Amino acid sequence: MIEIKNVSQSYSKKIKVIENMNLKIEDGTIFGFIGPNGAGKTTTIEMITGVLKIDSGDIFIDGNSITKNPIEAKKLFGFVPDSPDAFEKLTGLEYLNFIGDIYNVSPKDRLEKVKNLSDKFGITNSLKDRIQSYSHGMKQKLLIISVLLYNPKNWILDEPMTGLDPKASFILKELMKEHSKNGNTVFFSTHVLEVAEKLCDKIAVIDKGKIIFVGTCEELKEKSKNNSSLEESFLKIIEE
Ligand SMILES: Nc1ncnc2c1ncn2[C@@H]1O[C@H](COP(=O)(O)OP(=O)(O)OP(=O)(O)O)[C@@H](O)[C@H]1O
Ligand SMILES: [Mg+2]
Repeated sequence: MIEIKNVSQSYSKKIKVIENMNLKIEDGTIFGFIGPNGAGKTTTIEMITGVLKIDSGDIFIDGNSITKNPIEAKKLFGFVPDSPDAFEKLTGLEYLNFIGDIYNVSPKDRLEKVKNLSDKFGITNSLKDRIQSYSHGMKQKLLIISVLLYNPKNWILDEPMTGLDPKASFILKELMKEHSKNGNTVFFSTHVLEVAEKLCDKIAVIDKGKIIFVGTCEELKEKSKNNSSLEESFLKIIEE
Protein backbone atom coordinates (compact mmCIF):
# COMPACT_ATOMS: atom_id res chain seq x y z
CA MET A 1 0.00 0.00 0.00
CA ILE A 2 1.18 3.49 -0.86
CA GLU A 3 -0.19 6.54 0.94
CA ILE A 4 0.53 10.09 -0.14
CA LYS A 5 -0.42 12.57 2.57
CA ASN A 6 -0.63 16.35 2.07
CA VAL A 7 2.37 16.39 -0.25
CA SER A 8 3.56 19.55 -1.98
CA GLN A 9 6.59 20.10 -4.16
CA SER A 10 8.11 23.10 -5.94
CA TYR A 11 11.37 22.79 -7.82
CA SER A 12 11.93 26.52 -7.80
CA LYS A 13 10.56 28.47 -4.87
CA LYS A 14 7.89 30.18 -6.99
CA ILE A 15 5.59 27.63 -8.56
CA LYS A 16 4.09 24.60 -6.85
CA VAL A 17 4.45 21.61 -9.16
CA ILE A 18 2.48 19.37 -6.76
CA GLU A 19 -0.09 20.97 -4.52
CA ASN A 20 -1.33 19.31 -1.36
CA MET A 21 -1.69 15.85 -2.87
CA ASN A 22 -3.51 13.05 -1.08
CA LEU A 23 -3.76 9.58 -2.60
CA LYS A 24 -4.12 6.05 -1.28
CA ILE A 25 -3.12 3.09 -3.44
CA GLU A 26 -4.50 -0.01 -1.81
CA ASP A 27 -3.15 -3.57 -1.77
CA GLY A 28 -4.43 -5.88 -4.48
CA THR A 29 -4.91 -3.13 -7.06
CA ILE A 30 -3.42 -2.07 -10.33
CA PHE A 31 -3.55 1.68 -10.06
CA GLY A 32 -3.04 3.88 -13.15
CA PHE A 33 -1.73 7.42 -12.98
CA ILE A 34 -2.76 9.47 -15.98
CA GLY A 35 -2.44 13.13 -16.92
CA PRO A 36 -1.05 15.46 -19.58
CA ASN A 37 2.67 16.09 -20.15
CA GLY A 38 4.08 18.14 -17.31
CA ALA A 39 1.14 17.37 -14.99
CA GLY A 40 3.41 16.04 -12.24
CA LYS A 41 3.34 12.23 -12.63
CA THR A 42 7.12 11.70 -12.67
CA THR A 43 7.58 14.27 -9.90
CA THR A 44 5.08 12.36 -7.74
CA ILE A 45 6.70 9.01 -8.52
CA GLU A 46 10.15 10.39 -7.73
CA MET A 47 8.87 11.60 -4.35
CA ILE A 48 7.25 8.22 -3.59
CA THR A 49 10.54 6.46 -4.35
CA GLY A 50 12.74 8.92 -2.46
CA VAL A 51 14.58 10.12 -5.58
CA LEU A 52 13.25 13.63 -4.99
CA LYS A 53 13.02 15.28 -1.59
CA ILE A 54 9.48 16.14 -0.48
CA ASP A 55 8.91 19.82 0.37
CA SER A 56 6.04 19.17 2.77
CA GLY A 57 3.79 16.26 3.73
CA ASP A 58 4.90 12.62 3.72
CA ILE A 59 4.57 9.35 1.79
CA PHE A 60 4.22 5.90 3.35
CA ILE A 61 5.04 2.53 1.82
CA ASP A 62 3.17 -0.14 3.80
CA GLY A 63 3.19 2.30 6.71
CA ASN A 64 6.90 3.21 6.44
CA SER A 65 7.67 6.87 5.86
CA ILE A 66 9.95 7.46 2.87
CA THR A 67 11.35 10.56 4.61
CA LYS A 68 11.75 9.25 8.17
CA ASN A 69 12.40 5.56 7.54
CA PRO A 70 13.78 5.46 3.98
CA ILE A 71 15.74 2.19 4.18
CA GLU A 72 12.73 0.19 5.42
CA ALA A 73 10.44 1.89 2.90
CA LYS A 74 12.86 1.23 0.02
CA LYS A 75 13.00 -2.49 0.81
CA LEU A 76 9.28 -2.66 0.09
CA PHE A 77 9.09 -1.37 -3.47
CA GLY A 78 10.65 -1.82 -6.87
CA PHE A 79 10.93 1.15 -9.22
CA VAL A 80 11.28 1.28 -12.99
CA PRO A 81 11.93 4.91 -14.00
CA ASP A 82 10.86 6.48 -17.30
CA SER A 83 14.44 6.85 -18.53
CA PRO A 84 16.28 3.62 -17.73
CA ASP A 85 19.83 5.00 -17.67
CA ALA A 86 21.93 3.53 -14.90
CA PHE A 87 25.32 1.92 -14.41
CA GLU A 88 26.18 2.01 -18.10
CA LYS A 89 29.63 0.45 -17.60
CA LEU A 90 28.26 -2.73 -15.98
CA THR A 91 27.13 -5.70 -18.03
CA GLY A 92 23.48 -6.69 -17.69
CA LEU A 93 24.44 -9.71 -15.61
CA GLU A 94 26.70 -7.65 -13.33
CA TYR A 95 23.82 -5.23 -12.77
CA LEU A 96 21.39 -8.04 -11.90
CA ASN A 97 23.95 -9.54 -9.51
CA PHE A 98 24.44 -6.12 -7.92
CA ILE A 99 20.69 -5.80 -7.33
CA GLY A 100 20.59 -9.42 -6.10
CA ASP A 101 23.32 -8.57 -3.55
CA ILE A 102 21.56 -5.43 -2.34
CA TYR A 103 18.24 -7.20 -1.84
CA ASN A 104 19.73 -10.44 -0.49
CA VAL A 105 18.44 -12.74 -3.23
CA SER A 106 19.97 -16.19 -2.64
CA PRO A 107 22.38 -17.45 -5.37
CA LYS A 108 20.05 -20.34 -6.28
CA ASP A 109 16.98 -18.13 -6.52
CA ARG A 110 18.98 -15.53 -8.42
CA LEU A 111 20.28 -17.96 -11.04
CA GLU A 112 16.86 -19.44 -11.66
CA LYS A 113 15.09 -16.09 -11.90
CA VAL A 114 17.72 -14.43 -14.09
CA LYS A 115 17.53 -17.36 -16.50
CA ASN A 116 13.73 -17.53 -16.61
CA LEU A 117 13.12 -13.81 -16.82
CA SER A 118 15.84 -12.98 -19.35
CA ASP A 119 14.56 -15.81 -21.56
CA LYS A 120 11.02 -14.56 -21.16
CA PHE A 121 11.96 -10.98 -22.11
CA GLY A 122 14.41 -12.11 -24.81
CA ILE A 123 17.62 -10.51 -23.54
CA THR A 124 19.59 -13.60 -22.45
CA ASN A 125 22.23 -13.17 -25.17
CA SER A 126 22.84 -9.54 -24.22
CA LEU A 127 23.41 -10.09 -20.49
CA LYS A 128 27.18 -10.38 -21.06
CA ASP A 129 27.28 -6.98 -22.80
CA ARG A 130 27.65 -3.59 -21.17
CA ILE A 131 24.42 -1.73 -20.53
CA GLN A 132 25.71 1.24 -22.57
CA SER A 133 25.30 -0.91 -25.70
CA TYR A 134 21.62 -1.66 -24.96
CA SER A 135 18.69 -0.05 -26.77
CA HIS A 136 16.12 1.89 -24.71
CA GLY A 137 13.76 -1.11 -24.65
CA MET A 138 16.53 -3.52 -23.65
CA LYS A 139 17.51 -1.27 -20.73
CA GLN A 140 13.89 -1.11 -19.71
CA LYS A 141 13.61 -4.90 -19.81
CA LEU A 142 16.74 -5.21 -17.66
CA LEU A 143 15.33 -2.82 -15.05
CA ILE A 144 12.01 -4.68 -15.02
CA ILE A 145 13.87 -7.99 -14.53
CA SER A 146 15.91 -6.43 -11.71
CA VAL A 147 12.69 -5.57 -9.88
CA LEU A 148 11.18 -9.02 -10.50
CA LEU A 149 14.38 -10.56 -9.14
CA TYR A 150 13.58 -9.56 -5.57
CA ASN A 151 9.86 -9.19 -6.26
CA PRO A 152 8.83 -6.49 -3.77
CA LYS A 153 5.24 -6.04 -2.62
CA ASN A 154 4.87 -2.67 -4.31
CA TRP A 155 5.73 -2.08 -7.96
CA ILE A 156 6.12 1.54 -9.07
CA LEU A 157 6.53 2.00 -12.81
CA ASP A 158 6.83 5.27 -14.74
CA GLU A 159 5.46 4.74 -18.27
CA PRO A 160 6.66 1.12 -18.32
CA MET A 161 5.20 0.15 -21.71
CA THR A 162 6.84 3.02 -23.61
CA GLY A 163 9.60 1.52 -25.71
CA LEU A 164 8.78 -2.11 -24.97
CA ASP A 165 8.06 -4.39 -27.92
CA PRO A 166 4.55 -5.94 -28.10
CA LYS A 167 5.60 -9.28 -26.61
CA ALA A 168 7.41 -7.71 -23.65
CA SER A 169 4.55 -5.31 -23.11
CA PHE A 170 2.10 -8.24 -23.06
CA ILE A 171 4.26 -10.21 -20.62
CA LEU A 172 4.61 -7.20 -18.32
CA LYS A 173 0.85 -6.62 -18.29
CA GLU A 174 0.25 -10.28 -17.41
CA LEU A 175 2.82 -10.06 -14.60
CA MET A 176 1.17 -6.89 -13.29
CA LYS A 177 -2.20 -8.67 -13.18
CA GLU A 178 -0.74 -11.67 -11.38
CA HIS A 179 1.10 -9.47 -8.86
CA SER A 180 -2.03 -7.54 -7.92
CA LYS A 181 -4.11 -10.71 -7.80
CA ASN A 182 -1.72 -11.98 -5.14
CA GLY A 183 -2.65 -9.02 -2.95
CA ASN A 184 0.20 -6.71 -3.98
CA THR A 185 0.25 -3.16 -5.30
CA VAL A 186 1.05 -1.97 -8.82
CA PHE A 187 1.21 1.78 -9.42
CA PHE A 188 2.10 2.97 -12.90
CA SER A 189 1.84 6.06 -15.06
CA THR A 190 0.77 5.86 -18.67
CA HIS A 191 -0.45 7.94 -21.60
CA VAL A 192 -2.02 4.90 -23.23
CA LEU A 193 -5.62 5.11 -22.13
CA GLU A 194 -6.54 1.78 -23.72
CA VAL A 195 -3.99 0.12 -21.44
CA ALA A 196 -5.34 1.99 -18.42
CA GLU A 197 -8.89 0.94 -19.28
CA LYS A 198 -8.04 -2.73 -19.78
CA LEU A 199 -5.64 -3.11 -16.88
CA CYS A 200 -6.47 -0.77 -14.03
CA ASP A 201 -8.76 -1.43 -11.08
CA LYS A 202 -8.51 2.27 -10.34
CA ILE A 203 -7.04 5.39 -11.86
CA ALA A 204 -6.07 8.85 -10.67
CA VAL A 205 -6.04 11.77 -13.07
CA ILE A 206 -3.54 14.53 -12.34
CA ASP A 207 -3.51 17.93 -13.99
CA LYS A 208 -1.27 20.89 -13.12
CA GLY A 209 -0.09 19.19 -9.94
CA LYS A 210 -3.54 18.42 -8.58
CA ILE A 211 -5.48 15.16 -8.48
CA ILE A 212 -8.74 15.92 -10.25
CA PHE A 213 -10.22 12.42 -10.26
CA VAL A 214 -9.80 9.12 -8.40
CA GLY A 215 -11.94 6.08 -9.18
CA THR A 216 -12.58 3.42 -11.79
CA CYS A 217 -12.52 4.07 -15.53
CA GLU A 218 -16.29 3.45 -15.55
CA GLU A 219 -16.77 6.12 -12.89
CA LEU A 220 -14.73 8.60 -14.94
CA LYS A 221 -16.94 7.93 -17.95
CA GLU A 222 -20.07 8.38 -15.82
CA LYS A 223 -18.73 11.59 -14.31
CA SER A 224 -18.13 13.13 -17.71
CA LYS A 225 -21.42 11.70 -19.01
CA ASN A 226 -19.56 9.88 -21.73
CA ASN A 227 -20.27 6.21 -21.73
CA SER A 228 -18.32 5.23 -24.81
CA SER A 229 -14.72 6.25 -24.54
CA LEU A 230 -12.25 6.81 -21.74
CA GLU A 231 -10.24 9.03 -24.08
CA GLU A 232 -13.13 11.49 -24.58
CA SER A 233 -13.95 11.42 -20.86
CA PHE A 234 -10.33 12.13 -20.02
CA LEU A 235 -10.11 15.04 -22.46
CA LYS A 236 -13.39 16.47 -21.15
CA ILE A 237 -12.35 16.38 -17.51
CA ILE A 238 -8.96 17.94 -18.35
CA GLU A 239 -10.67 20.78 -20.27
CA GLU A 240 -13.06 21.48 -17.43
N1 LIG B 1 14.17 19.01 -12.45
C1 LIG B 1 13.20 19.91 -12.61
N2 LIG B 1 13.39 21.22 -12.35
C2 LIG B 1 12.39 22.13 -12.50
N3 LIG B 1 11.15 21.82 -12.89
C3 LIG B 1 10.89 20.54 -13.17
C4 LIG B 1 11.89 19.50 -13.05
N4 LIG B 1 11.32 18.31 -13.41
C5 LIG B 1 10.05 18.59 -13.72
N5 LIG B 1 9.79 19.91 -13.59
C6 LIG B 1 8.48 20.57 -13.83
O1 LIG B 1 7.52 19.92 -13.02
C7 LIG B 1 6.29 19.79 -13.74
C8 LIG B 1 5.87 18.34 -13.72
O2 LIG B 1 6.79 17.56 -14.47
P1 LIG B 1 6.74 15.97 -14.50
O3 LIG B 1 7.98 15.50 -15.15
O4 LIG B 1 6.44 15.50 -13.15
O5 LIG B 1 5.48 15.73 -15.45
P2 LIG B 1 4.87 14.37 -16.03
O6 LIG B 1 3.43 14.37 -15.64
O7 LIG B 1 5.70 13.23 -15.64
O8 LIG B 1 4.96 14.64 -17.60
P3 LIG B 1 5.21 13.61 -18.84
O9 LIG B 1 3.89 13.03 -19.18
O10 LIG B 1 5.71 14.50 -19.92
O11 LIG B 1 6.22 12.60 -18.42
C9 LIG B 1 6.53 20.39 -15.13
O12 LIG B 1 6.03 21.70 -15.12
C10 LIG B 1 8.02 20.39 -15.26
O13 LIG B 1 8.44 21.48 -16.05
MG1 LIG C 1 6.81 11.82 -16.69
